[in-house]
Amino acid sequence: MTVLEVLQATTAYFNKRNIENPRLNAEHLLAHVLGRKRIELYLEFERKLTETELGPLRELVRRRSEGEPLQHLLGTVEFCGLTFLCDRRALVPRPETEQLVEFVQSAIPDPRSSILDVGTGSGVIALSLAAKFPEAIIMAVDISDDALALAQENAARLNLSGRVRFHKSHLLENVEDAFDLIVANLPYISTQDRHILSREVLHDPEVALFAGAHGDELVRELIDQAPSRIRPGGTLALEIGLGQSERLLSAMTEKKYRDICSNTDYNGVTRFLFGRYG
Ligand SMILES: C[S@@+](CC[C@H](N)C(=O)[O-])C[C@H]1O[C@@H](n2cnc3c(N)ncnc32)[C@H](O)[C@@H]1O
Repeated sequence: MTVLEVLQATTAYFNKRNIENPRLNAEHLLAHVLGRKRIELYLEFERKLTETELGPLRELVRRRSEGEPLQHLLGTVEFCGLTFLCDRRALVPRPETEQLVEFVQSAIPDPRSSILDVGTGSGVIALSLAAKFPEAIIMAVDISDDALALAQENAARLNLSGRVRFHKSHLLENVEDAFDLIVANLPYISTQDRHILSREVLHDPEVALFAGAHGDELVRELIDQAPSRIRPGGTLALEIGLGQSERLLSAMTEKKYRDICSNTDYNGVTRFLFGRYG
């Protein structure tokens, strides 16, 4: 079979198996197996594939059709223009979180700011900010040893190891310093919503998805704790779940944050909350 024929057959198969963006998935997997950039496939449509190339592709197509996330199969994910390792140890970073990083970047007035990323997962927020702000002092915490190990591998791969201090902590429990910015994409799914999650999402670690019966428990706890770790006038920036903004905005108002505002994601969902303290 030629490259084009394989792409067409794989796309049709993914379509039948209800895989979103079937053609894109097929292209990514074939490019991965051939060690090419996806765009380079277009220059080789007529090339015949060997059995040595088709064997590994068949295996990846089978796993993808059973719901394994594309990023786990590729082993990497693009985030804010950088390539991060991606596997079962931490959440697959989402495009919404790239938006959070963009908002946060414009809220950093001083390039030497001190920044804390709470629930760092694979390290995407902390490391993207470290790459953009070479003088910033950055710390990242997570409760999961697995996530911290992956984040540290990502730091090393991106030559940013010296730039971010990683620590194990339940929220701010083991954090002593104060920061100009605290940013967090914590778990925000209700345990009662497990049954509506896709097969792909269920490959993310439980600790990265679920917060409690409401879903907003951990974010609320952080809203409570953060004032003790925010420098005067510093910012708390949060990614939150669908339908959670009203309760969480009230929690921030009660706690006396100021300049509170929210922003929507690409789908028009209120996904980000910001507030200053002190
Ligand atoms: C939704 S994932 C986000 C990961 C990463 N920040 C991202 O945006 O891709 C939430 C992360 O919070 C961590 N986490 C869960 N409970 C926590 C807690 N109590 N304290 C600190 N981190 C926690 C999880 O291990 C997970 O890595």
